[in-house]
Amino acid sequence: MQTEAHPLVNKFQLKEDLNPVFPMGVPWVRYFGTYKDLNINIIWPGKDTILGVDSVGTISASLVTYASSLALQPDLIINAGTAGGFKIFAYLSTKIMRQTFELCLMQCFDMYSTLMFSCFQAKGASIADIFLASDVAFHDRRIPIPVFDLYGVGLRQAFPTPNLVKTLNLKVGKLSTGDSLDTSPKDEASIVSNDATIKDMEGAAVAYVADLLKVPAIYVKAVIDIVDGDKPTGVEFLQNLLAVTAALDQAVTEVVDFINGRCLSEL
Ligand code: ADE
Repeated sequence: MQTEAHPLVNKFQLKEDLNPVFPMGVPWVRYFGTYKDLNINIIWPGKDTILGVDSVGTISASLVTYASSLALQPDLIINAGTAGGFKIFAYLSTKIMRQTFELCLMQCFDMYSTLMFSCFQAKGASIADIFLASDVAFHDRRIPIPVFDLYGVGLRQAFPTPNLVKTLNLKVGKLSTGDSLDTSPKDEASIVSNDATIKDMEGAAVAYVADLLKVPAIYVKAVIDIVDGDKPTGVEFLQNLLAVTAALDQAVTEVVDFINGRCLSEL
């Protein structure tokens, strides 16, 4: 989104490409420049040409990743953005089931701790946490036919960056991607099956293209809403947008500073 991209454009003192490398008429915007020893391009998918809102989601993400990778031949893609996070994620598949379960727990307190371990998994995401995704997959491409099911999930690993994770003390978790901000019960079941801690609307689409074009990719995600929390996602998202964007920009700057002067195998 524009709110996520612009502070970084300013931070790295990038300029807008006024003769874009992209086809005429697309809303995609490229900012470019040199920061320390790096050539940096920030590609923002721009505003929807009809509705004028940010072009979020997997279609724009895959198109801009494809076009900019072909045009710019990057050594590394950093997919940076906000994400929903899970604090505790239940193996019970829906929120209603969890709430019913919690009520039952209050009535049979003795069994509480045992059941907690067998039914819940602490995911530990909090607002403004920064995650580096280890794996990315889709949660809304359900194709219940053998092998197509795996194609739909589209599990891919991020480029491994153990030194970056250790040095910046980043959280690591699996990222699940879908084209909706909310989480339907079926999405939720797929997210559990993906074992994801964070949820976004772009990562797995970027991963698909990066894999196709053999470009290493990493995913830096700042938690802006708690998916298994009490607040409506849209409300929480807008409430936290400015503060979490600032945390994301700080983290991306630290990631870029770490990358500067290192080769890929040192990350
Ligand atoms: N981006 C930020 N929060 C999100 C959420 N809850 N789901 C999908 N994408 C998001």
